[in-house]
Amino acid sequence: MSPSVLHPKLSSPPPSITHSAGNYLYTHDGRKIFDASCGAAVACLGHNEPRVKQAILAQLDKTAYVYSPFFTVPAAEEIASFLTESTGGQMGRVFIVSSGASPRIPRLTLTVLHGTEAIEASLKMARQYFTELQPPQMQRTRFIARRQSYHGNTLGSLGVGGHKARRAIFEPILSTSTSHVAPCYPYRDMKDGETEEEYVNRLAEELEGEFQRLGPSTVCAFVAETMAGTTLGCVPALPGYHKAMKAVCDRHGALYVLDEVMSGMGRTGTLHAWEQEGVVPDLQTVAKGLGAGYAPIGALLVGDRVVEALANGSGAFMHSQTYQGHPVACAAAVAVQRVIQEDGLLENVRVQGEYLGRLLNERLGGHRNVGDVRGRGLFWALEFVKDKATKEPFPAEEGVAQKVHLTGLQEEYSISVIPGAGVADGKNGDIIQIAPAYNVSREDIELIVERVESVVHAVFRA
Ligand SMILES: Cc1ncc(COP(=O)(O)O)c(C=O)c1O
Repeated sequence: MSPSVLHPKLSSPPPSITHSAGNYLYTHDGRKIFDASCGAAVACLGHNEPRVKQAILAQLDKTAYVYSPFFTVPAAEEIASFLTESTGGQMGRVFIVSSGASPRIPRLTLTVLHGTEAIEASLKMARQYFTELQPPQMQRTRFIARRQSYHGNTLGSLGVGGHKARRAIFEPILSTSTSHVAPCYPYRDMKDGETEEEYVNRLAEELEGEFQRLGPSTVCAFVAETMAGTTLGCVPALPGYHKAMKAVCDRHGALYVLDEVMSGMGRTGTLHAWEQEGVVPDLQTVAKGLGAGYAPIGALLVGDRVVEALANGSGAFMHSQTYQGHPVACAAAVAVQRVIQEDGLLENVRVQGEYLGRLLNERLGGHRNVGDVRGRGLFWALEFVKDKATKEPFPAEEGVAQKVHLTGLQEEYSISVIPGAGVADGKNGDIIQIAPAYNVSREDIELIVERVESVVHAVFRA
């Protein structure tokens, strides 16, 4: 392996993959690893899907690149239309920024390159919205997000995120425009004797309190993952949670921003995770499942209210990047979304997801170090604890989640899952996430659970 690559762990390069197909990754040293994590919940069609490869080649034959403020391509228009239509017309009606910002186009979807970029764009869009309102509300400069949240690793997105450990050394250079409230995390935060409704009301009151503390008219937006991902571990919101939180935002004129970079584009069983929550966000980010790993692509979906303010104001979003709306990425995303529709994969996510959750609960729910099994669709997590009764987490220094991940990669287990840490308090608290491809079969689910069970037994026996 080349000594030139700065791998995430400098001293230990990850296994090299020579090729991949379906659910399997083949390593240079002969392992055949079941990809039960789709990388980082990305490769939702599995690997080497011929229809997507064909679409990418066809796009390369037409045009590989145009600069989106100057030119558009049909693939960019098509993915933008698909996304806005997929919201039943609830999100957006004005222009596609990546098409050259034509106000004639009755839709607004900004295609960008990564999840982080979509988040950055959403923050800028939220701020710009208030500067374009008539009369402008220039005093709105604040964001409220949640603790143990992850929205990306650039300075802007890390500044919004609430994961203590990931922020720690960068804290002095992060923007101070975001403050944090508690996530919806019933396993640890719901009090004894409290009903779900009371807990949700308590969280909404906390958000209200934060608006009051900051001054309600200074807040641009509340930002949350619709279903919490890596830094909390696949926690679906309790019924009524998003409605209650959005009601607080609506009361104070602030925007509701949902980050569906990880939980969106089908992962939870509906194309948009908010479809199961009874709310429509003002701004929504999507990424991973949009291009399924065949191309790096994300998008920001923009609701009517924001679109109208811009259309009546400057008529342009103050944001652009060189590779925004990249033709090949857009063509890949169109093909990925077509496969999901044609093959009825959302239904498969619901059916196999339900089976995955049931088997995980049956086989691992009683394990002394598995504190919680939770998830929705094909997005499940196990939270590990040192003491099941007190829910005491393992100390971060033990690196339990990482151990589970690395053990899984050993030849006798050959399974890839996503490790996560800090779920309990931003530092301690280990989870693994299981996020297989949308086209997994019942037999694949059984194989995943069998292997995960063996790995968990091996790690906690040691
Ligand atoms: C909820 C959420 N938002 C944003 C991001 C950042 O996306 P990316 O790593 O593609 O920039 C991630 C990545 O895991 C994520 O899970």
